[in-house]
Amino acid sequence: MGPLRVALLAVLIGSALCQYYDYDYQPSMMLGPSGPNCAQECECPIRFSSAMYCDNRRLKTIPVVPRGIKYLYLQNNNIEEIKAASFVNATDLRWLVLDNNHITNGGIEKAAFAKLVNLEKLFFSFNNLTEPVGPLAKSMTELKMMRNKLAKFPSGTLSGLENLTSVHLQENELTSDGIAGAFKGLKSLIYLDVSQNRLTKMPTGLPSSMEVLYADHNDIGSIPKDYLNKLPALQYLRVSHNKLQDSGIPAGVFNVSSLIELDLSFNRLQTIPEVHENLENLYLQVNLIKKFDVGSFCKFPGMLNYSKLKHLRLDGNNLTRTSVPFEAANCLRQATEVTVEDTD
Ligand SMILES: *[C@@H]1O[C@H](CO)[C@@H](O)[C@H](O)[C@H]1NC(C)=O
Ligand SMILES: *[C@@H]1O[C@H](CO)[C@@H](O)[C@H](O)[C@H]1NC(C)=O
Ligand SMILES: *[C@@H]1O[C@H](CO)[C@@H](O)[C@H](O)[C@H]1NC(C)=O
Ligand SMILES: *[C@@H]1O[C@H](CO)[C@@H](O)[C@H](O)[C@H]1NC(C)=O
Ligand SMILES: *[C@@H]1O[C@H](CO)[C@@H](O)[C@H](O)[C@H]1NC(C)=O
Ligand SMILES: *[C@@H]1O[C@H](CO)[C@@H](O)[C@H](O)[C@H]1NC(C)=O
Repeated sequence: MGPLRVALLAVLIGSALCQYYDYDYQPSMMLGPSGPNCAQECECPIRFSSAMYCDNRRLKTIPVVPRGIKYLYLQNNNIEEIKAASFVNATDLRWLVLDNNHITNGGIEKAAFAKLVNLEKLFFSFNNLTEPVGPLAKSMTELKMMRNKLAKFPSGTLSGLENLTSVHLQENELTSDGIAGAFKGLKSLIYLDVSQNRLTKMPTGLPSSMEVLYADHNDIGSIPKDYLNKLPALQYLRVSHNKLQDSGIPAGVFNVSSLIELDLSFNRLQTIPEVHENLENLYLQVNLIKKFDVGSFCKFPGMLNYSKLKHLRLDGNNLTRTSVPFEAANCLRQATEVTVEDTD
């Protein structure tokens, strides 16, 4: 049995404790007896001996990781530092979970991660990092460093990580200059979350493999012309709670066939931007929109060419039901939800 066992139960228990576990995690009370190849502070279940559970133990340091351990759970401790000595034999390690500790960059020894040559997932959220850690193994697939104090993410930090598919950096202090070039050349990157940071521009230099980009809750005022043409696989784009105005939305910038979901809610838009017929979910609530322009969704109103929109949110704008023109019904015939304010 592997780490995916009782994933559902872990989710239930995780939510019951109101804690953050977005990896498959098995509570240690269910593990059964511990095997011999284990740090004494931790448990390594005989039936799943490549996992070492050291979470929730008030640990201040990382125990020495025995050879053969692939999955290491160290979340919810009081760890402040990482010493290379803990990992001298940890060459088999695939997953390293350090969420919810007190680790600062000053507490991390130089080359602390050098022996982790097979690392695939590094979960380092809810700590006190001001810069990313590294260098990381080329085998990395997933990096989570949400809710730290990252102000920059220097270019080169992730260079050569050809299998890196997902990067979570939300709730940090990242600026647009601080992430310039950070994601260049990541051939496999499909998911990036930079929400709740201090970006004033959309992240640049993203690879064409991108499918999901979340940049909510920043200070972004515009989307560069052709931004989405460089991201031909992008399906989900969220830029809600920013400072977007009509002047920052070049004509046709969202007229791309790959997008399924576009969230521009809580901005300062006065018009509905033109979108492609393939778009299914469009969130524009809480803007300053005054006019329902059918042409934004339907290229040939009244013809057979209708929009694929299922959800269209326009509540919290300067629009009411009477602002929705009659021909909208024909064009938006696939919509199951269209919200505008009920009354003037
Ligand atoms: C690392 O592994 C070697 C060989 O298996 C062993 O001799 C050594 O004691 C281990 N080091 C630590 C710190 O466990
Ligand atoms: C981060 O450091 C600050 C002080 O520098 C401290 O108050 C805070 O508790 C620390 N947070 C974590 C998660 O360690
Ligand atoms: C990337 O993944 C492929 C397929 O799983 C693997 O063959 C390759 O070795 C990986 N690259 C690195 C640098 O680990
Ligand atoms: C929108 O994109 C399509 C191609 O997908 C193109 O034919 C059409 O002219 C574009 N519309 C505008 C207004 O640029
Ligand atoms: C839909 O519009 C496209 C141009 O965007 C056109 O080529 C096509 O014939 C139209 N289809 C129908 C059924 O009207
Ligand atoms: C909404 O539009 C009406 C008519 O254009 C205008 O009088 C009113 O001030 C607008 N309200 C807001 C909150 O912008």
